[in-house]
Amino acid sequence: LKGLLILLLIGLVGLFAVGCSQKEKGTPTGGTNGAEDENAKPKYTVAFEATFAPFEFRDEKTGEFTGFDIELIKAIGEVEGFDVELKEMGFQGIVAAVKTGNIDIGCSGITIKEDRLKEVDFSIPYYQAGLGIVVRANETRINGVEDLKGKRIAVQIGTTGADFARTIEGATVIDFDQVTDALMEVKNGGADALVNDYPVNLYYVNKSPKDYKMVGGILESEYYGIAVRKGNTELLEKINSGLMKLKENGEYARLYKKWIGVEPPEFLPGE
Ligand code: ARG
Repeated sequence: LKGLLILLLIGLVGLFAVGCSQKEKGTPTGGTNGAEDENAKPKYTVAFEATFAPFEFRDEKTGEFTGFDIELIKAIGEVEGFDVELKEMGFQGIVAAVKTGNIDIGCSGITIKEDRLKEVDFSIPYYQAGLGIVVRANETRINGVEDLKGKRIAVQIGTTGADFARTIEGATVIDFDQVTDALMEVKNGGADALVNDYPVNLYYVNKSPKDYKMVGGILESEYYGIAVRKGNTELLEKINSGLMKLKENGEYARLYKKWIGVEPPEFLPGE
């Protein structure tokens, strides 16, 4: 009996060992690492700040990040054969994170501008934006940019809106990490106006027309680009070629219509 038990034990240990080795085989190591890398899609990290609807925001129902930028970068990855890993962070830190290589791609409604071009490389423009002003719905004193003098202006920190607000004579500029908090400050009277990207203002004002209205039209024209680390031409070329493929196959226009609500201009995306 003792002998039998020992045999049974050996048998069980043997089975266990076989089971383990099979599990290891289950992972696709398939011999050399080189062979594995050729088949695996590269995965790039994508940074964005998610209080910027309709470009990037958290879907209230699903809790997932969504918007024009999010779907666009995923679609670029699909046609160019790479996966993306979404990473939310403060807007102010995105260009620096791409510059140092902590993040592969910055896709966050980032305006292509002189000082940023010194830090990172940008894709071809994929969206034409501009700045605009939001005030409380019952505001009567502020009807345009000239009325912002000496007023308290809420902005998102590190944005072109923040830069613009600081050029206004006598204005007090109040920085916020999130656009939604800056808007709240206008609503509760802590600030008189918000200066921020026009299409984003439009989205939030349409969401709460009893709280907010837009005044003064489009102040400044800007183009959004997707940022990569300086000299990362391999990734930049993938992004540019992806944008052009999505333009040709109609997917760019579909996403644009879905999120912006109108047809994209003929020249976008493009030089
Ligand atoms: N376009 C502006 C800029 O580049 C604001 C972008 C803010 N983006 C965001 N996802 N919060 O400065």
